[in-house]
Amino acid sequence: MNDVFLNGQFLPADQAQVSVFDRGFLLGDGVYEVIPVYAGRCFRLAGHLERLQTSLDGVRMKNPYSDHDWQTMIEQLVDRNGGGDQSVYLQVTRGVAPRDHVFPTGVKPTAFAMSNPLQPVPEKYKKQGVAVITMPDIRWQNCNIKAITLLPNSLLKQQAQDQGALEALLIRDGFLTEGAASNAYAVIEGTIYTAPKDEKVLPGITRELILELAEEAGIPVIEKAVNEAQLKQADELWISSSTKEVLPVTLLDGEPVGSGSPGPIWQQIDVLYQQYKQRGTS
Ligand code: PDD
Repeated sequence: MNDVFLNGQFLPADQAQVSVFDRGFLLGDGVYEVIPVYAGRCFRLAGHLERLQTSLDGVRMKNPYSDHDWQTMIEQLVDRNGGGDQSVYLQVTRGVAPRDHVFPTGVKPTAFAMSNPLQPVPEKYKKQGVAVITMPDIRWQNCNIKAITLLPNSLLKQQAQDQGALEALLIRDGFLTEGAASNAYAVIEGTIYTAPKDEKVLPGITRELILELAEEAGIPVIEKAVNEAQLKQADELWISSSTKEVLPVTLLDGEPVGSGSPGPIWQQIDVLYQQYKQRGTS
């Protein structure tokens, strides 16, 4: 049984308990992060902690810990659970209070973290690419906040799975925003297009790295959402997340994307991504 972290303590997962009055449980009132760990080292931790702060600010919650305290806790948790490659999940909710939509005062936030073995990305996803479907973006207006209220995302992802696809690509007002649990990219005539960082998308930490790697490699990037017609005609499509890295999409609503195989620019970025991981750069 793995150890988890709850409100300042490490304890076996089956002994960690949260009140039924926790606002995370009753109202979905909380935010979260998912951080990959390679060879015992957190990947791009500073970016995740910065985004956690932005999410907390966005829902008017105080950060219970300093970045240094978060880092120390996460490193201890990873260590306790055997190091290696892990995925750390952390969540902060507004805390325990009588149910009321209005924020309670003087309540301590609930801070929780767990770590689990990071599932390796299946080789076939990279060899063949993955299938996606397009769906209307039914989420709220603050998708830049990594909120625990994931019912729309969950419904969308389930619909993708029901249709034999890995992800749902979301369309808002005729434009591609992102995936239900990933950022999305279209390559058109050698240029990478991805939606800009605004309230319509989560500012992915993997996205940030991909854009850095593209810039270093001299591949042009335009942070602009593509419309549905451009999406259908793109030479390459990709999705990215901390747990899936960067994956080529080769089937869009049952139709082949570009040549129908993972494209050359994806291959170039994937090599650079894997090299960056190997270097153990944080
Ligand atoms: N989700 N967009 C959405 C809606 C996401 O849920 C995620 C990741 C991303 C990619 O962000 P990052 O590169 O920082 O992982 C984009 C995580 C993995 C999850 O909810 O499990």
